[in-house]
Amino acid sequence: MRVGDRWYRTIWPGDDGWSVMIIDQTALPAALTVRRLTDVDQVAEAIVTMRVRGAPLIGVTAAYGVALALRSDPGNAAFDSAIRLLAGTRPTAVNLRWALDRVEAEIRAHPPEGRAAAAYRLAAAMADDDVEVCRRIGEYGEGLIRERWESLGRSRPVQILTHCNAGWLATVDWGTALAPIYRAHDAGIPVHVWVDETRPRNQGLLTEWELGCHGVPRTVVTDNAGGHLMRTGRVDLCLVGTDRTTRNGDVANKIGTYLKALAAFDNGVPFYVAAPSSSIDWSLADGGAVPIEERTGRELGLSDDIPVMNPAFDVTPARLVTKLVTERGVVAASAPDLAALFPEGSRGSVASGPSSTGRS
Ligand code: MRU
Repeated sequence: MRVGDRWYRTIWPGDDGWSVMIIDQTALPAALTVRRLTDVDQVAEAIVTMRVRGAPLIGVTAAYGVALALRSDPGNAAFDSAIRLLAGTRPTAVNLRWALDRVEAEIRAHPPEGRAAAAYRLAAAMADDDVEVCRRIGEYGEGLIRERWESLGRSRPVQILTHCNAGWLATVDWGTALAPIYRAHDAGIPVHVWVDETRPRNQGLLTEWELGCHGVPRTVVTDNAGGHLMRTGRVDLCLVGTDRTTRNGDVANKIGTYLKALAAFDNGVPFYVAAPSSSIDWSLADGGAVPIEERTGRELGLSDDIPVMNPAFDVTPARLVTKLVTERGVVAASAPDLAALFPEGSRGSVASGPSSTGRS
């Protein structure tokens, strides 16, 4: 992603060869602040406090966290405690467990003295894989935007509504839901994005910022505006991300996604979900058992004496999802279609994007 005259990923190895650099998203959009992480506690803190956030980025950051832990102590006990610490940081995005399972599977067998270096290489490979996965989602999703544009007779910009931030900042680069938008814009397809503000954390302002860096026309709207916009014919398609997609195509994403899907359904607006395989939880038949993170009521900025509930995610049932956009193509949100596209996942092994063996 280009910011001004520099290209950035959201996470990268430090120039000392071992620390990990992140963009501190709690400072955005006011300031672009880069932060160096040097131990696993700092990594856990960065995930919990949402300095890094977004399902794919959480997974890659956790992989780097294990590498930092193993650099301090490559023994089994330290390995176990790093995995436990990181696994407990955020409950809904399954990419976290997916990434830690992959690190466990590929690094545990190494002799302790080789573990840290192998874990760094694996984390870097997972970061590269994520970029490639998002690039492919961008290609497939661009096709959907192009189809919509053609169906409008190329008469005006395609109006797209998105919720939360499923962009570059939520991944290593490109984003999931925003990758098709960037590609469409670059290909000369006129687009305009309605950006939900996404209270209480205002991830929509991150989306606004990154779309702005790329020159994509956009307008921020309040979270409750989407239904009105759809009913008055001002949305051609919705495109959102996912933190956990279950076997049947149910989708857990940022709180409020479900209401947008209901409004889209009622108004005949296509509702697409950009879903990398790293977000598919093959162990869950449907969204009923997805753990929904509840965050502190203080995020609402209200005084402590006001009773508050702050669920951070909700589940959109597959029947409201028009299609899932994966790195292997566009697919119906259904168990047979997902299983046909990812046979290795549905058999119980963990799908892992382009390089299923890793490069460590
Ligand atoms: O709480 P966050 O900001 O981590 O939630 C992010 C989202 O809900 C995104 O839509 C999701 O992670 C998909 S990101 C490609």
